[in-house]
Amino acid sequence: MTQDDKKKAAASNALKYVEQGAIVGVGTGSTVNYFIDALAGLKNNIEGAVSSSEASSLLLKSHGIEVFELNSVSQLDVYIDGADEITEHKHMIKGGGAALTREKIVAAVAKTFVCIIDDTKQVPVLGKFPLPVEVIPMARSYVARELVKLGGDPVYRQGVVTDNGNVILDVRNLKILNPVELENQINSIVGVVTNGLFANRGADVVLIGKEDGVLEIK
Ligand code: A5P
Repeated sequence: MTQDDKKKAAASNALKYVEQGAIVGVGTGSTVNYFIDALAGLKNNIEGAVSSSEASSLLLKSHGIEVFELNSVSQLDVYIDGADEITEHKHMIKGGGAALTREKIVAAVAKTFVCIIDDTKQVPVLGKFPLPVEVIPMARSYVARELVKLGGDPVYRQGVVTDNGNVILDVRNLKILNPVELENQINSIVGVVTNGLFANRGADVVLIGKEDGVLEIK
């Protein structure tokens, strides 16, 4: 079984969290793309989706799934998204696809966050995957210096502009022993829009595509 097969299996399994008539919160990334493809089979049973990126919106629309503005929706039952790393406490690093801010906003509105991953994403401690930080462009150098003070090694993600018109710093070599504290600390640096630690609001359910099937952790 390839890594893609595992992603696909976790993505299809997440359909059981989609209720009749729902507006579904949809994340971003290759695993979510498989989810969107699977969701297309249910498009006549759902009202539509709220999306966390222009890329996901395009794919949803290409399948004929209506995409709603988050501001027009007061509540979402479920948000389905991938992760770059996840711990047993369901804390995550996200943002490999640069969509972290909108992902965090849509996740905040949802009652249940279902994380769909293949088994390579499970880690004992976060931080091997560089932590993405979305930054207002004029603050890039200042924020980078502040991140160095926190022990990180920020690298400007060249050529990437987020859907919100900002830039990404990928921070290597952080020891993320307390993800909630670090998430708050980084978010309090002036010029940071948000960072890719999803610890204050982690996942509620994890669906892990493995060699022998999909493991669900609640
Ligand atoms: C997008 O910004 C990310 O948060 C993705 O959720 C994460 O990178 C996982 O992506 P894959 O499913 O492509 O591994």
